[in-house]
Amino acid sequence: MLNILVLHGPNLNLLGRREPGVYGLATLDDITALLEREAQTLEAKIETLQSNHEGVLIDAIHDALGKHDGILINPGAYTHTSVAIRDAIAGVNLPTVEVHLSNIHRREPFRHHSYIAPVAVGQISGFGPDSYRLGLYALVNYLKQKS
Ligand code: DQA
Repeated sequence: MLNILVLHGPNLNLLGRREPGVYGLATLDDITALLEREAQTLEAKIETLQSNHEGVLIDAIHDALGKHDGILINPGAYTHTSVAIRDAIAGVNLPTVEVHLSNIHRREPFRHHSYIAPVAVGQISGFGPDSYRLGLYALVNYLKQKS
């Protein structure tokens, strides 16, 4: 059974009350429940971590080696700033899919650049909680085709 690490970056613990006009009303628990259901359909397993700290996310990426087959990540604002998270993903070389609730490309210019995209299999952005569901689906299918 494929084992996927789901990582949520800073401020995503506030989902449901954080800028609902941009991010909607779903909470992180709602998104985890959605992903648990999708994982069951795909016959995959997920483990989830949210952190507001860059180093904690980097440690989790390192710890995924040997434990997880792939990473689904919403790096939050670290998407646009973190060379260190990008290097961690490149370092462990685990297939990674980047997701965003909002469409980062139709928002402020500083959100248009992602340090993560070049080391990801792909990016899904703009579909609210469905971005995660679609991302998990795409990552699991990618891994199944590879093996
Ligand atoms: C986000 C988009 C980022 O620009 C922002 O900093 C976030 C959330 C999204 O899911 O739409 O924290 O990653």
